[in-house]
Amino acid sequence: MHTTTATTPYTSTQPLTRNKHLLKWIDKMSALLKPEAIHWVDGSQEEYDSLCAQMVEGGTFIKLNEEKWPNCYYAKSDPTDVARVEDRTFICSLSKDNAGPTNNWVNPFEMRKKLKDLFDGAMRGRTMYVLAFSMGPVGSPMSQLGVQLTDSPYVVVNMRIMARIGLPVFRKIDENLKRVVPCVHSVGKPLEPGQQDVPWPCNKEKYIVHFPETREIWSYGSGYGGNALLGKKCFALRIASNMARDEGWMAEHMLILGVESPEGEKTYVAAAFPSACGKTNFAMLIPPDCFKDAGWKVWTVGDDIAWMRADANGRLRAINPEAGFFGVAPGTSNKTNPNAMASLAKNTIFTNVALTPDGGVWWEGMTDEPPAECLDWRGMKWTPEIAKATGAKAAHPNARFTAPASQCPTIDPDWENPEGVPISAIIFGGRRATTMPLVYQAFNWSSGVYIGATMGSEMTAAAAGTIGKVRRDPMAMLPFCGYHMGDYFRHWINIQRTLTETPRVFNVNWFRKDEDGKFLWPGFSENMRVLKWIVDRVRGRAYAKETPLGWQPLYEHMDWTGLDFPREEFESLQKVDRMSWRTEVMGHEELFLELHAHLPKEMVYERELLICRL
Ligand code: GTP
Ligand code: SPV
Ligand code: MN
Repeated sequence: MHTTTATTPYTSTQPLTRNKHLLKWIDKMSALLKPEAIHWVDGSQEEYDSLCAQMVEGGTFIKLNEEKWPNCYYAKSDPTDVARVEDRTFICSLSKDNAGPTNNWVNPFEMRKKLKDLFDGAMRGRTMYVLAFSMGPVGSPMSQLGVQLTDSPYVVVNMRIMARIGLPVFRKIDENLKRVVPCVHSVGKPLEPGQQDVPWPCNKEKYIVHFPETREIWSYGSGYGGNALLGKKCFALRIASNMARDEGWMAEHMLILGVESPEGEKTYVAAAFPSACGKTNFAMLIPPDCFKDAGWKVWTVGDDIAWMRADANGRLRAINPEAGFFGVAPGTSNKTNPNAMASLAKNTIFTNVALTPDGGVWWEGMTDEPPAECLDWRGMKWTPEIAKATGAKAAHPNARFTAPASQCPTIDPDWENPEGVPISAIIFGGRRATTMPLVYQAFNWSSGVYIGATMGSEMTAAAAGTIGKVRRDPMAMLPFCGYHMGDYFRHWINIQRTLTETPRVFNVNWFRKDEDGKFLWPGFSENMRVLKWIVDRVRGRAYAKETPLGWQPLYEHMDWTGLDFPREEFESLQKVDRMSWRTEVMGHEELFLELHAHLPKEMVYERELLICRL
């Protein structure tokens, strides 16, 4: 067993920047936040180890069994702080119309007043960490810089995995070439002198606030994931979507993967699925044996966020702005996603999974046989018998692992290419038990934008809310688009004009069910068959049939080598039921009514065409 020896905390009180604006801002902020100490985060391994040891001492972290889980830590959050809080997430643009009807808007002057009160003395008794980060490889022309002030060492160590942080980023900031996005984060639990800290400090009052015009982020009250790791959803999606609109690029909730054919031809695709709808799994897909043997390979570039722009030749190029995976643990296994299992085998932080008696972790779906006993995500005794009797889950459904992307066995050789990778197809997909076929291709870009814009998906545990209810989630960006959704659709329409080669657009649904509630499609590895059809369509060598929705493969258009999948089942999967599609289109209409004043007319025409075809 590994023993923790580091008791002298690693300190770095010397400013790591000469940037006058940054220094002035930090002075101003520390006067407001009133921390006990300031720690400039250099991003070193020694610092990481020391912060982890300090959290082990304070009870936030448990060091896992070093033999089985080298350099891994376990954290349990407060049971009230387990997911993103969409109803406490605000877009405070000057005009309400800019935020649009799908965002919570508060007048920025009012919000600033509120924040000043909330943050006044919020860090009392705590250390303020000054965390410089780069979203995207340091120095890439597509990257962006931020500085997060936080009073959470948990956030610092997670950010070290999820983003490029520390000295090299401060050096970039000192070059003064790029605007830095200021991010302020507090768990909202100041400590009075002598007051004992809790393992997971947070506040029941939560505010996740974005000022799009001034490109600022203020987050209060939560230590969890997308609420607290501000480089991720707050910056790389909500603020970046505003930058992207202004500067002519795209910030999307998309995975990026590369498909290598037996001939060595590489085709990159980006796919937008809502939270907990299969991005990480698809990004790390391992083809079925017969495809593997034939020489097909899938490479991973990113699993959650894509930044894309036209290059000098008008080709759409994408980078993954992140450096790690903040992945859903439940359901991840050596069967479903061996690449994720390899990525999280070491140097990983686990949050809200279950703790086994041998100092390991477990979650539902990790193994066929559950452990005889473990401590669940709330620290209570859990056994398969208790689970059977009470339905208690060992891991929270939104339990996550934070793992370095570099540890993924299929990480693409070009994943850190500063120029990005060329994107040939965009795939949309939701979680739909009915109505949505397994796969179809849009007729063209504008019908593709319509498909993305009208995407629906059943809600998951990734956000607080009603699980299972179908909601419209345009481009999987409903919780992440930092401006008016109608303007966002227009931006999508406009982007095509910056391109010499238009990516083909597809829609997939891995989650269609039969009358007994069983998934019709085996999913995971078998998704390779759909992916191959997509790649072959992009390359102009696969057949399809024109249907009211777009181009759909018939049974004989798909590669079934090595899988005995009955034709009738494929036909149920691909069925376009005109009655349910009429209801579906009414759902589109509801969203469009909400957005009407900003809705591009292409969307209205596309809907009319769809209705005519149905
Ligand atoms: P976020 O990190 O929240 O953005 O989620 P994500 O889109 O990366 O989802 P992820 O890949 O973690 O998958 C979420 C859940 O969907 C897991 O429980 C998976 O087991 C399940 N899932 C993923 N792919 C498939 C599939 O092809 N078929 C089925 N039936 N389930 C899948
Ligand atoms: C999501 O909810 O889409 C996530 C997890 O990727 S979080 O970082 O918490 O937003
Ligand atoms: Mn996500």
